[in-house]
Amino acid sequence: MKSNTKGRLFAFTGTTVAIVSFAFLAIEPAQARKPFTQDELAAQYKDLMATVKEGDDLWHSAKLGKNGLACANCHPDAAASNPHTFPKWQANLGQVIPLRDMINWCIQVPLEGQALDANSKEMKALEAYAFYMHRGFKLKPGENTKQHPPVEVRSGAGYP
Ligand code: HEC
Repeated sequence: MKSNTKGRLFAFTGTTVAIVSFAFLAIEPAQARKPFTQDELAAQYKDLMATVKEGDDLWHSAKLGKNGLACANCHPDAAASNPHTFPKWQANLGQVIPLRDMINWCIQVPLEGQALDANSKEMKALEAYAFYMHRGFKLKPGENTKQHPPVEVRSGAGYP
């Protein structure tokens, strides 16, 4: 390799490295954010608990169906909803489903109602309630859990 070719190669490599490093430096400040403050964390937790509360209300309301039943009639305190076992193969649907599909199955079959949009606020709230009531449970995707007793009382310290 002639020395001026080498020189050009070095200059080219050097410029490329400089451009790439500069791009990273320019991007990084935008990506990095300060840790959440205690106030922000408290506001986020409040949002979560408001969603759980909305799910709790829906779980105990007959408005999801058309025959006067509510989820809580058969799943008091989210008992036997087993969110920690999803996704799993569900016999009635003949396929592997996430929790929301099972919730919709129960809305359509035992409640004789209209399936919710999977991304609706209501579905998110029902999922939040079921998971919240099972906090501390080990994740067991695929497990065919038998019924278990109610896991939590609906009132008490820290509960909305
Ligand atoms: C009339 C009784 C009844 C009502 C009301 C009812 N369900 Fe169910 N639910 C069942 C039965 C029965 C099963 C078991 C179905 C199966 O596995 O084939 C079940 C299963 C489930 C499961 C899956 C549990 C598991 O271990 O796989 C979830 C989640 C669930 N229901 C949520 C709900 C929600 C949310 C509502 C209200 C929208 C609701 N159910 C209303 C009877 C009911």
